[in-house]
Amino acid sequence: MESVDLLLTNITQLVTCAGSGAPKRGAAMRDLGIIEGAALAAQDGVIVAVGKSEDLLRIYRSENHEDCRRRAVIPGFVDCHTHAIFAGNRLDEFEMRLSGATYMEIMAAGGGIRKTMRATRAASLDDLRETLLERIERMMQTGTTTAEIKTGYGLDVETEVRLLEVIDWAAERYPMRLLPTFLGAHAVPPEFPDAESYTRHVIEVMLPAVRAWYAASWFARQGTPLFVDVFCEQGVFDVDQARRILQAGQALGMAAKAHVDEFVNLGGVPMAVALDAVSVDHLDVTPDHELERLAASKTVGIMLPAVNFNLGSHHYGSARRLIDAGGILALATDYNPGSAPTTSIPMTMAIACRYQKLTPAEALNAVTLNAAYAIGMGGRIGSIEVGKQADLLILNEPDYRAAAYEFGGNPIWRVGAKGALLWHSW
Ligand code: NIG
Ligand code: FE
Repeated sequence: MESVDLLLTNITQLVTCAGSGAPKRGAAMRDLGIIEGAALAAQDGVIVAVGKSEDLLRIYRSENHEDCRRRAVIPGFVDCHTHAIFAGNRLDEFEMRLSGATYMEIMAAGGGIRKTMRATRAASLDDLRETLLERIERMMQTGTTTAEIKTGYGLDVETEVRLLEVIDWAAERYPMRLLPTFLGAHAVPPEFPDAESYTRHVIEVMLPAVRAWYAASWFARQGTPLFVDVFCEQGVFDVDQARRILQAGQALGMAAKAHVDEFVNLGGVPMAVALDAVSVDHLDVTPDHELERLAASKTVGIMLPAVNFNLGSHHYGSARRLIDAGGILALATDYNPGSAPTTSIPMTMAIACRYQKLTPAEALNAVTLNAAYAIGMGGRIGSIEVGKQADLLILNEPDYRAAAYEFGGNPIWRVGAKGALLWHSW
């Protein structure tokens, strides 16, 4: 018998989401690679065997033997798009929207992102650290074991770098995997007269400072990638400005992401695809021919339906069109204080299935393997395969579909990451 430091048995469905060394596109998004009556062995946080219970029990024993009591096991969720580091709140804007103001009207009047910028600039280091830890703890309780976190509420060099430092600090101390994205081009701060002058500042001053910070960071020592992102939207940054910012980031070794087509279609998708962006995000009003162009590329389309839900919209991005055209879809919360006040991936899946007509299997691949590829981590996480990290969720139910069916509560019984139990419901 071989001894391992984690052995899970009595699993009704082991949903591996196993791929073929690539993200799942099109019809393959329905494949989950389910093993019934399964067990799993891990050592030092890495999966060493998956298979039928009777086979694994002949080979492995463990002092840390968890009887899953006929529940389903799925990969840890990868939240590939969040703005989890911010101060203050936007509860007044919630009420303004309920009485008819739109998200972009509030932003144009100096609220929105700039309201959060003011609170974030004024926040103490301790406050930023403490609130970030509280939030990632909440994300983890609903199954998120990896999260991408964007800056974007500092909008000056000093505060943007401070936000990166706090993400780095949290990543080193907390068992959840975190990845940083520099989103200095999230809005134009009040010090600049227009988007063009701020674009030049982002390129000439902020990006080099961020690159220098990264070179000496814990993230760099771990080999964690750094991303550059931009809010390409009417009244924010246009396609040409977005392109120049992303290219400048790429020239410094950052992988490109872009917020595109949230409210107005400007042509951000073809721009970002031409740059080989790792993802394009939102895609709410992307026309079919651009979704087809995206589907034919290696860029992951990330949809964020909790935003549409939160803004009370009845319009959702055409996830079906992207998948049916053979594209790679990922889903994320977009967790932020204005457009998506939720840390919950299960809630996001629940919305996507109902309003974007994803099957539970498609939604699950979209928040695991494809989400991992959307942050350059597809080789290490996102599926339950030998050699990958043991980031695992035990659901309350024997059937994985419960993860997308239940909403507003928590379908998860146990959360494990880096091989250790992180949270359990009782
Ligand atoms: O992804 N659209 C731009 N950025 C965020 C919202 C940020 C905010 O409202 O604070 C988003 O929706
Ligand atoms: Fe966002």
